[in-house]
Amino acid sequence: MASVWVLVLVSCAATCNVFAEGNPERESLISFKNSLENPRVLFSWNGTTPHCNWVGVTCELGRVVSLSLPALFLKGPLSPSLFTLPSLTVLDLSSNRFYDQIPPQISTVVHHYYHYVAWGH
Ligand SMILES: *[C@@H]1O[C@H](CO)[C@@H](O)[C@H](O)[C@H]1NC(C)=O
Repeated sequence: MASVWVLVLVSCAATCNVFAEGNPERESLISFKNSLENPRVLFSWNGTTPHCNWVGVTCELGRVVSLSLPALFLKGPLSPSLFTLPSLTVLDLSSNRFYDQIPPQISTVVHHYYHYVAWGH
């Protein structure tokens, strides 16, 4: 019985905090959403679901590794908070209506970390 409890506590220590409100990756995604002119397109990005279950978001071990939001008619400036996701390797924002191109300070990050960046209108 005691070993069962230990297992539960250990697995919670590893995963529980990544779903907490104060999770920095969740905050980054929320500020990206809030910077949009049409944030309601991402209605699934809400408080009732863990951010790893949000549309377009893929996690591995609780970290956001892929953000794929093509052709959702997302409109607005491009929030730099997107580029603070430390484990992101795939970013697909093609066929949306972002005003900005890749910000200059981001392009080095892109070369290092992103397998695929699709940009467009
Ligand atoms: C929250 O997201 C879920 C899917 O993740 C969706 O079914 C639900 O309608 C959303 N709630 C609101 C208030 O948009």
